[in-house]
Amino acid sequence: MKKILPSTHGLRGELEIPGDKSISHRSIILSALSDSTVEVSNFLAGADCLSTVACMRSLGAKIERFGEKILVTGNGLHNLREPENILDAGNSGTTLRLLMGLLAPQKFLTTFTGDDSLRRRPMARVIQPLTMMGALIFGRNVNRNLPITILPSVKNLRGISYEMPVASAQVKSAILLAGLYADSPTIVIEPAPSRDHTEKMLAAFGVQLERVGNAIKIFPAEKLIAPEKISVPSDISSAAYWLVLATILDGSDVTIKNVGVNETRTGILDVLRDMGATFELLNVRTSGGERAADIRVVSSKLRGVEFGGEMIPRLIDEIPALAVAAAFAEGTTIIRDVGELRVKETDRLAAIVDEFNKISPETFTATDDSLIVRGGREKFFAECKTRADHRMAMSVSIFGAAANGVVLDDDSCVKISYPNFFDVLKN
Ligand code: S3P
Repeated sequence: MKKILPSTHGLRGELEIPGDKSISHRSIILSALSDSTVEVSNFLAGADCLSTVACMRSLGAKIERFGEKILVTGNGLHNLREPENILDAGNSGTTLRLLMGLLAPQKFLTTFTGDDSLRRRPMARVIQPLTMMGALIFGRNVNRNLPITILPSVKNLRGISYEMPVASAQVKSAILLAGLYADSPTIVIEPAPSRDHTEKMLAAFGVQLERVGNAIKIFPAEKLIAPEKISVPSDISSAAYWLVLATILDGSDVTIKNVGVNETRTGILDVLRDMGATFELLNVRTSGGERAADIRVVSSKLRGVEFGGEMIPRLIDEIPALAVAAAFAEGTTIIRDVGELRVKETDRLAAIVDEFNKISPETFTATDDSLIVRGGREKFFAECKTRADHRMAMSVSIFGAAANGVVLDDDSCVKISYPNFFDVLKN
């Protein structure tokens, strides 16, 4: 249980936030596929990325931790070791889906499991394209949920051309990783651009990739040539809570340091700007193909906006935080095309409606795939459930802090992506 008190003042000063979750996963996986040692700095030591570390160790990589630096030593792309036990992806869809793509082409058997939430999430979206490539994958029940077993691949996977029905970076990445081992190039076509960290990092590891419009073509590889160091920028999805809270609390002027501002992730900045938020990007720089900047944000009055379509993959994880901003805006916010929120760590559309309305009644309504927020209504102290979803826990916390306080039933889930979130909130 956690009690969040209403904030008595705005956010001021400088904030350091943890490393990017998506890039941390990929830095471990790709480094473990090279045959040299890579130093990863600003790695996010959250539970999800630690699930990836544990899985890659089971596959033979040596991974050592020295504070927030990680040293990863792999055995080479074609030299993964057969795991001695079931691989546990915990709560992490990224770990599971990316590693399914990596392991589908291997000559050994793998079985995956995960926690209650991950065992309910859809995996057919990954199994289907990998099966088209020739992989043999079995899941539980008709939905092909976890536990999932991948049979040893008897011959090389086929390169395919695959049009993805949903914009998902996890599915795209799974296909690209499988494509490294295919007998010919693989093409994956996205309905809208999703985060492109896998493509950027594969290119930094010397893999031949081509992008034309929404199609990405990957060529099979003999080996990965790793950079000596990877510096992970801080996570814009974690920065989102402070961007929103600083905007809605009067008297804020805060600078969030070294935030990853890859174009495929900055939808939150575009929408907040449209809503009337005031911020500036300082010291913009690029490292390993990834853009980073310090973001200075000051309090502003917000107005309701409408968005959907190609914007959604660029801010999919930030919608609960944006819903909080919309509750403080003048007018109505309409967010379309967010059906994917129903299959995240929890059904986030249902969670927003059920839990956020406890703080601001009659504010949030949802359809199958949209969210409507009527801003400016009265806010109350409330007791809310996090549903063991880290992003719901953090969003409801900033909502309570900006309103009249909130009690959360369970706060431990923030360890997934932002272990010291509550310390920072308190300060
Ligand atoms: C992620 C992709 C997104 C996102 C998730 C992280 C990734 O999921 O919601 O938190 O690192 O590739 P989908 O691929 O399901 O859209």
